[in-house]
Amino acid sequence: MNKQLMEGELCVVTGAAAGIGRAIAERFLEEGADLIIADFNEDEARRLYGKNPHVLSILKVDATKPEDLDKIGDAVKNTGRKVKAVLPIVGNGPNNMIEDITPEEFRLTMDLNVFSSFFTVQTVLPYMSDRSAIVLISSIAGFQGGKNALVYNAAKAAVRSMARSFAGELAERGIRANAISPGPTETKAFTEFVKGDEDVRAGILANIPIGHIGQPKEIAAIALFLASDESSYVTGAEVIADGGFTNR
Ligand SMILES: NC(=O)c1ccc[n+]([C@@H]2O[C@H](COP(=O)([O-])OP(=O)(O)OC[C@H]3O[C@@H](n4cnc5c(N)ncnc54)[C@H](O)[C@@H]3O)[C@@H](O)[C@H]2O)c1
Repeated sequence: MNKQLMEGELCVVTGAAAGIGRAIAERFLEEGADLIIADFNEDEARRLYGKNPHVLSILKVDATKPEDLDKIGDAVKNTGRKVKAVLPIVGNGPNNMIEDITPEEFRLTMDLNVFSSFFTVQTVLPYMSDRSAIVLISSIAGFQGGKNALVYNAAKAAVRSMARSFAGELAERGIRANAISPGPTETKAFTEFVKGDEDVRAGILANIPIGHIGQPKEIAAIALFLASDESSYVTGAEVIADGGFTNR
């Protein structure tokens, strides 16, 4: 039998209790990874992974809080093992018109997307192997100027930028870094975004040339490629996965 892509490799995934993070965690487990999982929603994470011997730790973490993120570093340290890949997937952002954005919303959106990605990576960095990978989640919002989303757009642009800076500074340590920029993807966050309005949903779908809204497992497949040695010559790159939404 062929070796699985992530057999025996230790990986860290945040936001793994739902949506894209969950699809990534499930795909990595199928490929033989051992995982450290961190999510706000510990109950759901325990329900999903509590009986899986390849999930080494399930951590209740608010990824906007530095003291919580330290728990991830501690959990990795306790394994005594090197990390193959770190995937800080947590992110989101309230939608608001420019005039209505409050300082609290601004800070929270930056914390959820930029701060959480950076400090998750920073806490894991001392334990990363010399053939390892960082996979960040940006969004097509990071290069678009859509209405109602100025802070989220800016935050995701920062995430894209961080992937390139991680790549530039860490290449000499054998660490690659790349970003995935999904378009509309069928998750709870997306359902909340369309607010159950079938017309809004149909309007989005009509603008996706490939003819379907992205599924979390389609993003997970890219994450697997970027986290594994299959992408050993890819660093500082961004994979846009939007069914052609931004290519119209
Ligand atoms: N769904 C989309 O259409 C889409 C498109 C582009 C980019 N993205 C990005 O993909 C990532 C995942 O999005 P999703 O749609 O799967 O989200 P989701 O809301 O379905 O799942 C998010 C997960 O993160 C956890 N979480 C939320 N806040 C947290 C916090 N502060 N600390 C720890 N855990 C927290 C939640 O409990 C949940 O398990 C985000 O970075 C998002 O910006 C999503």
